[in-house]
Amino acid sequence: MEGPGARAAEALRDALAAVRGARSLAGLREAEIAALGRKAPLSLLKRQLGSAPPADRPGMGRILNEAREAIEAALSARREELEATEESAALEAERVDVTLPGRSRLPGSPHPIALMLERLCEVFAGLGYRVAEGPEVETDWYNFESLNMPPDHPARSMWDTLYVDPSGGRDATLLRTHTSPVQIRTMLAQPPPVFIVAPGRVYRRDAFDASHSPVFHQLEGLAVGRGITFGDLKGTLDAFAKAVFGPEAAVRLRPSYFPFTEPSAEVDVICVTCGGRGCAACGRSGWIEIMGAGMVHPNVLRAVGYNPERVSGFAFGMGVERIAMRAWEIPDIRMLFENDLRFLARFRG
Ligand code: DAH
Repeated sequence: MEGPGARAAEALRDALAAVRGARSLAGLREAEIAALGRKAPLSLLKRQLGSAPPADRPGMGRILNEAREAIEAALSARREELEATEESAALEAERVDVTLPGRSRLPGSPHPIALMLERLCEVFAGLGYRVAEGPEVETDWYNFESLNMPPDHPARSMWDTLYVDPSGGRDATLLRTHTSPVQIRTMLAQPPPVFIVAPGRVYRRDAFDASHSPVFHQLEGLAVGRGITFGDLKGTLDAFAKAVFGPEAAVRLRPSYFPFTEPSAEVDVICVTCGGRGCAACGRSGWIEIMGAGMVHPNVLRAVGYNPERVSGFAFGMGVERIAMRAWEIPDIRMLFENDLRFLARFRG
């Protein structure tokens, strides 16, 4: 076959085959351009219509129009089919199995140190103390000098730390080695009487092992007023020990030394595991050391402008990790810092 009629029939056949064979909507768009676009054989034939013999034009025009209609019908039929399969493929890909078990979320819980700090503060709140706080980056003056430790005082070596600004002098900044500077900040801010506890994080240049951590927590206590005695200190610590460790708990004071107290004592609580007989938990001694304490040194009272002839007081500072380890029989201090959920889950309320 020759001539425009034959070429139109051939173009129609090719176009229908391409449209029906399209495998995707994108492929179908390509077939549509090839069949009906400006460069398509049928478009070419249509442009040549003007130069055909006048008698042939109506017949040829009809053939071209019919071909176009046939292609358009095939295009829309194929489009519908492809749309349906592409939609169901998308649905299949995004399918949600509502019968799968849900992802449960673990409820959070306070860290054991936070729990213990809260409990300790509550006990002292019951004795009439309020909670005070101070910065973790302290100055040399607050951390040492005001606490009766002048620059070359040998006791400073008991509290080696990291200096933020190592230039020296009273304004040099460092990571506080104890919560005792909060005593100073509180007394500078108010006249006596003072009854505060100060919870917080402290830092030491210590190795990280089963019983030491370079970061740990303390609870400081301070009571200053008229006629406060060492007997008041002992009675307060006794009440504290019974509230935290149970009615059988007793405390023992051993003479010790701190520059900011005179006299000073180490405070032991009776071992809750063995009741004082001696066991592995207390190193066979029957007692566990939990804090330092003493009567506030007159130089400390003077440093904040209090008159040691008129007021006196006691202070104490306890290690919160130690107390938590005793209370919950935690064998290694590192467990309190590793954030292992298998351990922390024990403290879920
Ligand atoms: N600040 C001392 C320390 O970190 C603990 C301490 C001892 C605090 C005696 C006191 C105190 O308030 O009176 O080792």
